[in-house]
Formats: sequence, C-alpha cells, structure tokens
Amino acid sequence: MKLAGKVALITGAGAGIGQETARLFAKEGASVVVVDRNAETATETVKLIEAEGGKALSVIADVASSASVRAMFQSTQEAFGALHILFNNAGIVVQGRVEDSSEEDWNAQIGTTLTSVFLGCKYGIPLLRASGGGVILNMASVAGMMGIVDRAVYSAAKGGVIGLTRAVALDHAKEGIRCVYLAPATIETPSLRDRIEASPDPAAARKAFESRQPVGRLGTPSDVAYAALYLVSDEASFVTGSGLTVDGGMAV
Ligand SMILES: NC(=O)c1ccc[n+]([C@@H]2O[C@H](COP(=O)([O-])OP(=O)(O)OC[C@H]3O[C@@H](n4cnc5c(N)ncnc54)[C@H](O)[C@@H]3O)[C@@H](O)[C@H]2O)c1
Repeated sequence: MKLAGKVALITGAGAGIGQETARLFAKEGASVVVVDRNAETATETVKLIEAEGGKALSVIADVASSASVRAMFQSTQEAFGALHILFNNAGIVVQGRVEDSSEEDWNAQIGTTLTSVFLGCKYGIPLLRASGGGVILNMASVAGMMGIVDRAVYSAAKGGVIGLTRAVALDHAKEGIRCVYLAPATIETPSLRDRIEASPDPAAARKAFESRQPVGRLGTPSDVAYAALYLVSDEASFVTGSGLTVDGGMAV
C-alpha cells in the first residue's frame, strides 16, 4: 500500500473527484478526513470507505471560511494527531464571460476555489510541519493554463491556484513540504452530468464537451484519482511546484 500510516485530508470529498480520491487513498492505507459542506454526502463517502475496509472521518466545513478551515484542522489533529497529505479539491464552476458574470459570481468563485486554497495552505502547513513534512495537492484545471470560452472567472481562480502552488512549493521546499497541482480537463462527475442535463440540448452539450479532448471522451474521477495518488505518494518525492494535466490532450 502506497499511503500506509498517512493521514490525508480531502476537501469536497462528498462527491465527484474528491469522493473517488478519498476511496482510493483509503484503499492505499491512508486514514482519510472527508471534508465537505454537505453533511449527507460526506457521511456517504465515509460509509463507502468503511464498507471497503478503510478508515475515515467526516468533517463538515465551508472551505471559503477561515474559522471553518481552522476548525477542520483542529478536528483532524484531535482525531489523528497528524496530517501528511492535504488535497485542496473543493470548487465550484461559474460559467460565462466577464460581462455576464456578477460581482457575487466573482466573489463566490474566488472564495470557494482560490481563497480556500490559500486558507488550506495557511492553516494546514503548521500541522504538516509538526507531522514531519508532507504534501499539499491543489486542484487547478486546464482552465488555469489556457483560455476557455465562457469560463473567465473560473479561469482566473484556477490560474491563481497554479501561481500559489509554485510559490508555496519554493517557500517550503527545505522543510519537507511539497506543493503540487492537478489540471484536469472535463471529468464526468455527477455535477457535470447535471450541467449537461440542464442544458437546452443535452446530447449536443455532451458532444461538445467530448470533442474538446483530443482523445474524444470525457475523463473519469478515477483518471484523476490515480494521478492524485502518484503526486501525493513518496514516489513523487522529487516533484514539487509543478502539476500534472489529466486532460486527454486538451492543453497540448
Ligand atoms: N469535473 C470537472 O470537469 C473538473 C475539471 C477540472 C477541475 N475540476 C475541479 O475539481 C474539483 C472537484 O470537482 P468535481 O467536478 O468533483 O466537483 P463536484 O461538484 O462533483 O464536487 C464538489 C464537492 O465540493 C463540495 N463543496 C463545494 N463548495 C464547498 C465549500 N465551500 N466548502 C466545502 N465543500 C464544498 C460540494 O458539496 C461537492 O461535494 C473542483 O475544484 C473543480 O473545479 C473539475
């Protein structure tokens, strides 16, 4: 097992990529702190992990709130006494051009997707350090690396995540704390399926998403979870400040 004896905290682990990654990390021996703002889905993830023989704890938190993030690390410390892997994964998608996006959209997108990563790093680093070092994995997106139509505010937040990752990696390289990012293209999660179904022509919307990736299909949460596993494992101990695109060739 690649993560035996490790404590891993994953935000947004009640659904989609976060849930799949939480299950994989637990199968690889980690004790997983399942963080989500949705108590019901966080509990569901914990039940899935326990049914698969793993160890997990659900913690309800809003990653955009400083007090909530600090309480999340406090709960981790009380339950497991350490933290080795922090996956800042939770995020939302605001669609549209700049002029279509309200200031509320901007604040919600930046709060949940970028401020959350800042807070996770800020309050997580002391616990990682006290645990003898570890790794922070931040969820970016190909939208943070390249222009994508109708994703102005989302792209800004994800570009910020990549910049923050590089800076944190340099600042903490000598302390045994790595910081890396993931940049997926379109991944078929339940929330993406809902977005496709809500569009005026779901079949056309699906086809448009699929055709953006040169490999001609959507990614799966499992495609991303295995990339995450590599980045947080000791096999990636020489990897910091950089990221892995999991994008079917989209950013090429
Ligand atoms: N699905 C994709 O196509 C895709 C592509 C690239 C990047 N990403 C990124 O991957 C991450 C996960 O995406 P997903 O598709 O699995 O999402 P999802 O919507 O399926 O799941 C996100 C989870 O995060 C939780 N969450 C949202 N806001 C929160 C908050 N403020 N505090 C705590 N929990 C919160 C939700 O309750 C949900 O359980 C996001 O950062 C997203 O931007 C997704």
